[in-house]
Amino acid sequence: MRLIKPKLPHLVSERVTARLLEPHEAPMMTRFRKENRAHLEPWEPLRKPEFFTDSFWQISLRVALGDFRNGASVCFSLLSPTEDEVIGVCNYTNVVRGTFQSCHLGYALASRHEGQGLMFEALQMTNRYMFHDLGLHRVMAGYLPHNDRSGTLLERLGFEKEGFARRYLKINGEWEDHVLTSLINDE
Ligand SMILES: CC(C)(COP(=O)(O)OP(=O)(O)OC[C@H]1O[C@@H](n2cnc3c(N)ncnc32)[C@H](O)[C@@H]1OP(=O)(O)O)[C@@H](O)C(=O)NCCC(=O)NCCS
Repeated sequence: MRLIKPKLPHLVSERVTARLLEPHEAPMMTRFRKENRAHLEPWEPLRKPEFFTDSFWQISLRVALGDFRNGASVCFSLLSPTEDEVIGVCNYTNVVRGTFQSCHLGYALASRHEGQGLMFEALQMTNRYMFHDLGLHRVMAGYLPHNDRSGTLLERLGFEKEGFARRYLKINGEWEDHVLTSLINDE
């Protein structure tokens, strides 16, 4: 049997490039994580000190490439057009095929790039890739009820509210309620 290797995505819009980083590019991700540590802390899981080191990201980026090849996830780094700075991330994880054809989405943008529509621009492009290139049917995203910025972004992208999950994800050390939303490929 011949295995077909999926082609790595390299998506380009006017202001954002989305692709998977290679392990040797770990320092770019470490820099993004260090610079945005306080900014992202209220919205993400508790991070261990090694999360802010190059050696952690060398391994994580290698794992992410393997998971992409296995069809388990697509962990995009969002780069400046010159591709010398990580401005954010959007991770499509828990890809399930069969009758579900769905995955979860999580995202974060550097504080100094907020408020310019960059995440909207990036997610429009990456959602299209997940639907049209990977053939998924549903992308699911949850947000903290007080994360208005994230809720507005998802609504503008066409995500529909589907429910409310009590104590759904452990964010910054606490089990937090989340609003559940999905974007469905109706084509
Ligand atoms: C949530 C988050 C990703 C939003 O990123 P963002 O790029 O600011 O969001 P959008 O792409 O929707 O941009 C909207 C803003 O850009 C402005 N904007 C400027 N030009 C724009 C354009 N061409 N198109 C769209 N919006 C534009 C809008 O007016 C809006 O500004 P405002 O928020 O000051 O009202 C970001 O705030 C973040 O990373 N937060 C912390 C982590 C987090 O919450 N993650 C999600 C967990 S569920």
